[in-house]
Amino acid sequence: MEKMYLNRGWNYNNCEVVDIPHMGCQLPYNYVDENEYQLEATYSKEIFIAEENKGKKLLLTFLGVAHMAKVFINGELAGTHKCGYTAFTMDISELIKYGENNLILVEVDSRESLNIPPFGNVIDYLTYQGIYRDVYLEIKDPSYIKDVIVQTKGNVLKTLTVCSSEYEGIMIEQYVYEKGDESVKYQLKTKKADTIAVDNKIKIDDVKLWDTDNPNLYVLVTNLIKNEVIVDTKEITFGFRDIKWTKKGFYLNGNRIKIRGLNRHQSYPYVGYAMPKSMQVMDARILKEELSLNAVRTSHYPQSQDFIDECDRLGLLVFTEIPGWQHIGDEEWQDIAVENVKEMVCQYRNHPSIILWGVRINESEDNDKLYTRTNEMAKKHDDTRATGGVRYITDSNLLEDVYTFNDFSHEGDNAGITKRSKVTKNSNAPYLVTEYNGHMFPTKSFDNEDRRLEHALRHARVVNDYSEDGNDVAGGFGWCMTDYNTHKEFGSGDKICHHGVMDMFRNPKLAAAFYASQCEDKVVCEVSSSMDIGEHNAGGLGDIYVFTNADSIKLYKNDRFIYEYECKNYKYNYLKHPPVLIDDLIGNSLEEDEGFSHSDAVDIKKVLVDYSKHSMNLPLSTKLLAGKLMMSLHLTFKDAERLYKKYVGNWGGNTTVYKFEAIKNDQVVKTIIKEPVMKVSIVCDVSHTELVEDHTYDVAAIRIRAVDNNGNVLPYYNEPLVLEASEGVKLIGPSIISLKGGMGGTYVKSVTGFDKGSLRIKGNNVEDINIEFSIRSADNE
Ligand code: GAL
Repeated sequence: MEKMYLNRGWNYNNCEVVDIPHMGCQLPYNYVDENEYQLEATYSKEIFIAEENKGKKLLLTFLGVAHMAKVFINGELAGTHKCGYTAFTMDISELIKYGENNLILVEVDSRESLNIPPFGNVIDYLTYQGIYRDVYLEIKDPSYIKDVIVQTKGNVLKTLTVCSSEYEGIMIEQYVYEKGDESVKYQLKTKKADTIAVDNKIKIDDVKLWDTDNPNLYVLVTNLIKNEVIVDTKEITFGFRDIKWTKKGFYLNGNRIKIRGLNRHQSYPYVGYAMPKSMQVMDARILKEELSLNAVRTSHYPQSQDFIDECDRLGLLVFTEIPGWQHIGDEEWQDIAVENVKEMVCQYRNHPSIILWGVRINESEDNDKLYTRTNEMAKKHDDTRATGGVRYITDSNLLEDVYTFNDFSHEGDNAGITKRSKVTKNSNAPYLVTEYNGHMFPTKSFDNEDRRLEHALRHARVVNDYSEDGNDVAGGFGWCMTDYNTHKEFGSGDKICHHGVMDMFRNPKLAAAFYASQCEDKVVCEVSSSMDIGEHNAGGLGDIYVFTNADSIKLYKNDRFIYEYECKNYKYNYLKHPPVLIDDLIGNSLEEDEGFSHSDAVDIKKVLVDYSKHSMNLPLSTKLLAGKLMMSLHLTFKDAERLYKKYVGNWGGNTTVYKFEAIKNDQVVKTIIKEPVMKVSIVCDVSHTELVEDHTYDVAAIRIRAVDNNGNVLPYYNEPLVLEASEGVKLIGPSIISLKGGMGGTYVKSVTGFDKGSLRIKGNNVEDINIEFSIRSADNE
């Protein structure tokens, strides 16, 4: 009854033995050639099936094959599947030779010329190749459970068990336990399976609801009993929760929640989609725990069950959608898109985290005929969830429940989002922003400081605007979580869309600090500036912001207290923790050290600060103020220059040490020091050092940063590093890399048969790093 995972030892193109997840080529970090992964390839594997299994049901499941798969068993076609993002199961019982070895052969076609979604026109992401999610075989009694559908509304649980056949004497027994404690908590009625679909229902009084803060999970066990023997069992993890969309927004268990999320692509450097469970889990954790989000959109296709399982565990809301990008193909293509809706809904509907089905091709034009079909298909298989369909067109025909709109209107100096009344005349529908920023302001981790700051502020402005309480916007999803490799028609010429709030290795850009700073459970404090005057025009310091959830920020300059900033910002009224503008680097120094009166000091400060931002292009009012001060205080240009150098610019002058203290509940909770760099070190965040081989190899992510003696990332440290993996672990990607924007990364995968391995990271004039990994298989805990 257990699943037999078949991830190991596939013969790829008859020339190499590989493990799943797999992609048939390894790509460079950037300047990728998208023709490289577009191939026709074969995967083959022999499996022995014992004689005693004759008469049983053999079900072979592939969770993800990019993009068209033809499966042959002993030379006979078992079936064809035409979608790179959904799972498929084939009944191979009749094709198997019992008591013998059997050959499974999969022809995998990943050419973008296929007439299936998302292909047919240009696409702003790479579509990759391979058998890239788990493969398993189940051997079952001919009477088996095909599916169990779980629906909850508050404390009511409804189930529908779909059996392979009606059969005299078959019973369905069901009970529920709390995840983590397998003792039976609630018993449902035991029912006769006298129809193929058996329904059941229970109302439970003391149930713990699933929500974003307390994602309580339960497991429904369904046993199929034939002649008093359990012949099949299915376990479904689920949550009790109640979701509702109204024109006011999204409600979870009766509470209105502003959706705050990012879009995620499931790709990684070098290997595309081919990453095992631990990396899928890591992304969900980054979104929830590092970026403090409550939602994710799986743009633009259904993603790994491991990722969605972790969203269930973490309480991360999910908007998932069918594959596609702007283009709608011919009838045959459209039939597949409708089929994709069915597969998506049927394969993912038991996840409590999923709150909305995307049933349009992302950003396609209206097509009422097609989208009537996709909506009907979604409702047919799940009438508990709302549908949406992402468009960039305004006044589109609303065939779904939620008007989901990509709003790229923010350009830095205007509103964060468009008024919904300008997007749709339908004022009764729920309304959700599904993308913003992205291509409007691509930002590399090695861009200049002003750009990196503006990137973060744009995210803050849009989130602020959609967060306004009274605005009837359910929330938003920013574009996007990480940078991603793309086609030649998009990106920065290096085949990367630098649209992420993180780079491809999941290292945070400044914009990530904005999202992170909205959390309550840990201290976040990032200063946008390195406080280096050479980074800005004419020796200024530009704008300086702190992204923090502290109560206030105390600034010290060379140990002298300058000012305590309250963490407020009237421009960001709807954010709990707005970006804090640091606009006074002078404090009382002009009064205390130079003897100016308070009001003169305030005016002089204004001129000096404005000069630091605008250089000679001062606003007219500041020019007039400067003129007035020079006249009334008899100041010369030389005096002004001296004051500027002493209190702001200090070009070539003495070293300035800036200290920022984050204060929470009257305590210093974090200290950040910015001073000239004295020493460079390499530091790493390793996802996990205990590699566990479960259904396949395990992968650890190593996020690498160059930091100064105060732990600040060095955004222009682009130096090479040499990566040396010992036996036991294998590097994914090249062994010589360079950091970009002071950040980079690599991955190691476990090698079967070893119980340990290590990775050494070496660079010029930096200390080596050595990371030790242990390796074990899941069954020898
Ligand atoms: C959108 C599209 C995304 C991505 C984004 C870049 O139009 O839906 O896939 O291309 O633009 O900002």
